Amino acid sequence: MCGIVGYIGHRQAYSVVVKGLQRLEYRGYDSAGVALLDGDLNVYKKQGKVATLHDFAKDQDIDANVGIGHTRWATHGVPSDRNAHPHVSNSGRLVMIHNGIIENYAAIKTELSKKGYTFNSDTDSEVFINFIEDIFQNTQVDLAEAVRLALTKVVGAYAIVILDKDNPDLVIAARKGSPLVVGLGKDEFFLASDATPIIEYTNEVVYLDDQEIAIIENKKLTIKNIEDVEMKPYIQKVDMELEAIEKGGYEHFMLKEIFEQPRSIGDCLRGRLNAQEGHLHLGGIHDYINKIKNADRILIIACGTSWHAGLVAEYIFEEFCRIPVEVEYASEFRYRNPVVGEKDVVIAISQSGETADTLAAIELAKSKGATILGVCNVVGSSIPRATHAGSYTHAGPEIGVASTKAFTAQISVLTMMALMIANKKGTLKESVYRNLLIELEAVPDKVAKCLDLNAQIELIAEKYKDASNCLYLGRGYNFPVALEGALKLKEISYIHAEGYPAAEMKHGPIALIDENMPVVFIATKDGSYEKIVSNIQEVKARKGQVIAVVTEGDTEIAAMADHIIEVPAAHEALMPLISVIPLQLLSYHIAVMRGCNVDQPRNLAKSVTVE
Ligand code: F6R
Repeated sequence: MCGIVGYIGHRQAYSVVVKGLQRLEYRGYDSAGVALLDGDLNVYKKQGKVATLHDFAKDQDIDANVGIGHTRWATHGVPSDRNAHPHVSNSGRLVMIHNGIIENYAAIKTELSKKGYTFNSDTDSEVFINFIEDIFQNTQVDLAEAVRLALTKVVGAYAIVILDKDNPDLVIAARKGSPLVVGLGKDEFFLASDATPIIEYTNEVVYLDDQEIAIIENKKLTIKNIEDVEMKPYIQKVDMELEAIEKGGYEHFMLKEIFEQPRSIGDCLRGRLNAQEGHLHLGGIHDYINKIKNADRILIIACGTSWHAGLVAEYIFEEFCRIPVEVEYASEFRYRNPVVGEKDVVIAISQSGETADTLAAIELAKSKGATILGVCNVVGSSIPRATHAGSYTHAGPEIGVASTKAFTAQISVLTMMALMIANKKGTLKESVYRNLLIELEAVPDKVAKCLDLNAQIELIAEKYKDASNCLYLGRGYNFPVALEGALKLKEISYIHAEGYPAAEMKHGPIALIDENMPVVFIATKDGSYEKIVSNIQEVKARKGQVIAVVTEGDTEIAAMADHIIEVPAAHEALMPLISVIPLQLLSYHIAVMRGCNVDQPRNLAKSVTVE
């Protein structure tokens, strides 16, 4: 939430910063702004997208080698030019961009107001920079120390970058709870919320840890912690290709990412699974296998689509490993008093690795002695660093706000984890285990076959694009897929959609069914096939419109549904990886036909770093 970029070096800062903001726009897109320092301090900000800012700023004075920029997802104050970042302090000397929330800003604002400070915006961030200025002006310390002192007094989350008009060779940045990466070039430095704006220029980065302050002065980087202890920068190489963060000829990132899934699932399995040799190994959890195998319980915590992946994993772990599993929304888990102990294993699932609720839930479970494993996509993000161990999904950068390839990669990793544990525990017959390895290895090709259905799905989308409501029903392994299908539709097309276990329909939702209600059934051949056939009949008896995702060659459902989408057969535990693909495509096409901004749906942001 909110993207921040900074640059100091020999290039034109404006172009580095604006290009970087476009890469980070998935994090928030209700307003954008830049501050450029070149003797003068020029600040340009606009409500709306980065393109609106650029239209305005490109004809202004943009010559500077030092600059910061921000793309905002509003927390305090409506989206507007004046609430957009950067914010300048009262003296006009300091300027700051901020991602996060300062929870005690109201009390600080009252104190500053008493001292005569005035505010041009409704944001907590403007209070924050004036608080720093107040300390700077009233103590005999340098700016870095004033920032550090201020940080010891604010409550909340932040990633900040600050410039000083009177010292253009200085950039100060800090983080707590919101991500910040420093890119190291030759006599130049980049700062950003993630590595995507940086990889074009350098692959050497330092991920700041919580409560660390980066001071870039006279071409030198110093890192201190909040206790004023100097830290040795840990330089990492980023392994990301530029093409991975570009649209590559697709109209939208979401479509590109849907179509990438044969490759992204393949990348996720690569080096870990070799069915022919009966090899399956996730190196990241190697040291924890006995712990998981002997766990009293597995607790899965996540939000949104990642939570749906967790539901699929619940079924898989219980069936294959015979370990009780509970799946919880991280936001609920963190605020109750859950019973968690040392024999529990917690699996935290997160694409971004930055979701605030998931991070807080991890800390809570850790404090109660549980072992925490992470399943994350963004390498070097906060969650993998907060967990004891884990496995990356290796799906590559997911830029579309609606999650697609991350979901299938998460399920792929979780399936491998479950199979590995089941094999060690001896809860699966060797022949069944071997067959599942073969089936899992075949998934990328089956996903590719689903993508061939794109044109057919587009025709179905045309028919239902004006619906106001839509129901998604599935049973067993396909129940979480129903939830995910409904979430995809509502978040990008703004059609109200609900997912339910198909049998629950008659306990309430059936009242909604009439000739105007599209009902999407995920009804592939599995243990509950006959049951779902009955559910389809119940909907048809009430004149509902049935769109059914079925197994190739199914004639029974074909005879009663209004539309069928035939997908390749697979073991039922692997079916979510396949049956979700048509649902992603359906919501994508409906959203495009309704003129919605598919990659940047209203009110949403990709990385939810506020609670
Ligand atoms: C939906 C979507 C969100 C995320 C949720 C968790 O398409 O993307 O529901 O799944 O915000 O995000 P991560 O996985 O980054 O923790």
